Order: sequence, then C-alpha cells, then structure tokens
Amino acid sequence: MDGREPGGEGRSGADPQAVSAWAVDRVAAAAERIAPLAALHTTAVKGGLARVLAAFAAERLGPHHFASVSGYGHGDLGRAVLDRVFARVLGAEAAAVRLQFVSGTHAIAAALFGVLRPGDRLLALTGRPYDTLEEVIGLRGTGQGSLAEFGIHYDELRLEPNGMVDSAGLADALAVPTRLVLIQRSCGYSWRPSLRLAAIGELIERVKALQPSCVCFVDNCYGEFVEACEPPAVGADLIAGSLIKNPGGTIAPTGGYVAGRAELVEQACCRLTAPGIGSEGGTGFDLYRLLFQGLFLAPQMVAEALISAELVAAVFDGLGYAVQPLPGGERGDVIQAVQFGAAPPLQTVCRAFQACSPVGAYLDPVPAPMPGYASELVMAGGSFIDGSTSEFSADGPLRPPYVLFSQGGTHRCHAELALERALNALAEAGQLPDRQNRSIRSD
Ligand SMILES: Cc1ncc(COP(=O)(O)O)c(C=O)c1O
Repeated sequence: MDGREPGGEGRSGADPQAVSAWAVDRVAAAAERIAPLAALHTTAVKGGLARVLAAFAAERLGPHHFASVSGYGHGDLGRAVLDRVFARVLGAEAAAVRLQFVSGTHAIAAALFGVLRPGDRLLALTGRPYDTLEEVIGLRGTGQGSLAEFGIHYDELRLEPNGMVDSAGLADALAVPTRLVLIQRSCGYSWRPSLRLAAIGELIERVKALQPSCVCFVDNCYGEFVEACEPPAVGADLIAGSLIKNPGGTIAPTGGYVAGRAELVEQACCRLTAPGIGSEGGTGFDLYRLLFQGLFLAPQMVAEALISAELVAAVFDGLGYAVQPLPGGERGDVIQAVQFGAAPPLQTVCRAFQACSPVGAYLDPVPAPMPGYASELVMAGGSFIDGSTSEFSADGPLRPPYVLFSQGGTHRCHAELALERALNALAEAGQLPDRQNRSIRSD
C-alpha cells in the first residue's frame, strides 16, 4: 500500500461519486504501470481496422446495403454483403450473421445441432464448456431436447490443474470416432487462461492428424479482434459468436454469427431457420447499418476493453489479489478475472461498477438466477445493449472461489472511474485484504 490510507480526502466531498484520494492514486499508479501495454493495444487497432476496411471495400459496401427485404427476406442484398464481409474479416469460406440468433449460446447451439447427428460423439477439449451450454449438451435439465436427448454422446477432456489443455491425454480422448471437437477460446466462468490462436492451431493440427474428418468447432465468444486473425485462419472448420459482444462494437442491437466451411455454416443455418431455407431466409429489419457500423468500431472498442482489462489486473494484482491473466500476460479474450475468495467483496465491487454504469446506475445488483445458468449470478452490466457487457462491466457466478469476471470498456477512463469507486467501496466496507490482514493470493 502506498503513502495514502484508504478513506482519506478525495474528489469533491458533496459529490455522490466522491472517492478517496487513496483510491484515485491507486488507479492512477496502475494506469501508469500499464501505459506501455496500453500503447501496444492501441497500435494493434490499425491491423484490425484494416481487415474490416478491406472487407468493406472488396464487397463494395454502400448505403443501399443498409435496408432489408421484409418477410422471408429472400434475395436480401444487405444480408448477403454482411455475410461476405464477416467471412472475409474472420478468414472463413462463409459466414451467416443473423439478428435471429438471440445470443452467442443460440449461435453455438445452432452450430452443434446443425452438424451433429444421432449416434455422433461430441468431445470438449477445453474442459467443461461455458455454463449456458450445459443444458444444450444435456449435462443439466431434461425434457428440453438437448443434444443428449437426440442421441449425441458427450465426452470431455478435463483441463490440467493449472488450467491448460491436457495435451498428453488428447490421443486417448480421440481414440474413438468423434464427429466434432469443441474448443472454447475464452475462459468463460473458469479460472483458466484463455486460448491464444497459436495454441488453438496446434490443437486442431493434432486433432486432424488423429481424425482428419473430425469437425473442429471453436466457441469464439469474446475473442474477436483480440489477435491479428481468427480461428478459421488456424484451421477451425466452424466458429460461432455473439454480435452483442466484440464484433458488435456496442452498436449491434442483438444477434450472432456462425462462420467457417460453407457446408457447415449452411447446416447451422438449417437449424436456425429450417432445412431447405438455411441461410437464404431471415430479414435484417432494416438494421444492417448498425451491424456494419458496429463491426467498423469493433477493433477500437476491443483495444479499449483490453486496456481496461490490463488496468483491472494491475489494480487488483497491486492489492495482492490473484488475477488471471497478470498485467501484460497473454490474452486470447477480453476477460479479466480477479479472485476474491468470498462473496461480499465480489458483490461490493459489482455494486460499485454498476453505480458507474451508463445505464441503470441506480440499480443495486443482487445475486439472482438467470436462464441457462446453474449458479446465481451477480452482474454489474449497465450497458446500452442488454447483456452486451461491452461497456465496462463485470459479473460472476456466486460460487467458490468467488471470481469476478470483468470485460468491456469503450473508454479506458470508464474503467478508471469504476475502479476508483470499487476500491473506495472495498476500503469503506473493510474488505481490502490489507485491512483484514490476510491475503487471498493463491500463487
Ligand atoms: C465463452 C463463452 N461462450 C458462450 C457464451 C454465451 O454467450 P451469450 O451470453 O451471448 O449467450 C459466453 C458468455 O459469456 C462465453 O463467455
């Protein structure tokens, strides 16, 4: 801890957003620590933006692509250009970008149900998939038409205790015929490093060497624009993601995408719409401009989110909490995890972040059940698009080891303001590790 003590005089006393000078100083010190990293993330925007601009130019994007055909949506020019733009940006043979996908979970489910057939085997290579996929696979709940209920056999290669993929166990796990392997790029709600594209590429290469016809599927949620290319460039056959996260640039109002080999994209679309309609139906409700504009803004937004993540890491690492990844650590997604070890500080931080949200700052986030999740969640997600988490936000399942997962941040100063407030609240509640004379650092 530096010279100033928690609780000292800070910004304007009458201001309800007032925080102590100690909190302001801690965040400023963290911002200084990560300044070289911030510069690197900012530099990387150029490459991502160049990818988007090249795709727009190659597809001759014009204002006439912003409108849609109503009803069936057959022959919709805007939709066709949007699909081709996304395919180029994602390095895929084809893509289907649809507002009819409710979420990332829905796009992933369409991909899995579209490709897998009764009797097929699905193998998760990155441990237990994200919480909302448990009911899709059939690991939780009954009577909803899960993959298990349609006769798809599921297995999982557990992660190593350090959160890494069990590469030594891969050959055994693939000793039986497997139709599809699921690779999750982002950490989700687990305490594990996100996967970098080089690691995803190596994994896919090994899978293909063992079973050449096995479909390599990547859950790409929260990963877009974090690196210079996307999973199809390292051999992924099919990927899926959410439009209201990274590629929506805070502008896309809803939706998701699938991308990859054309035949697999079509199978996923047949699940979204109906066999025979596939990718050829579905209106864009005259909202395509928002999807193109969101994609245009996405590289910049992702860079700011990465800078915000570095800041969160530096602030909480500086206080002695375990953080994943460390400032400057390898990142394959925009998520920053902080381990609190108990529910009260996790809730205090969420409350402070919510109070700094652009929408719903007056709300008190209380742990609550959420469709698709087994655990209660506490969510500080006052974003303009419901559930997008793209403005600076944080959430976590209320289960040990009580990890806060923060993400988003369209401006790094939003993260700074929210962090100042969180430190202030932790200090006021006597929930800082120094105050309690204990450390929850695990390493
Ligand atoms: C790794 C991962 N996969 C899938 C999802 C599901 O996305 P959505 O919330 O859009 O359904 C999430 C959401 O946080 C995620 O982190």
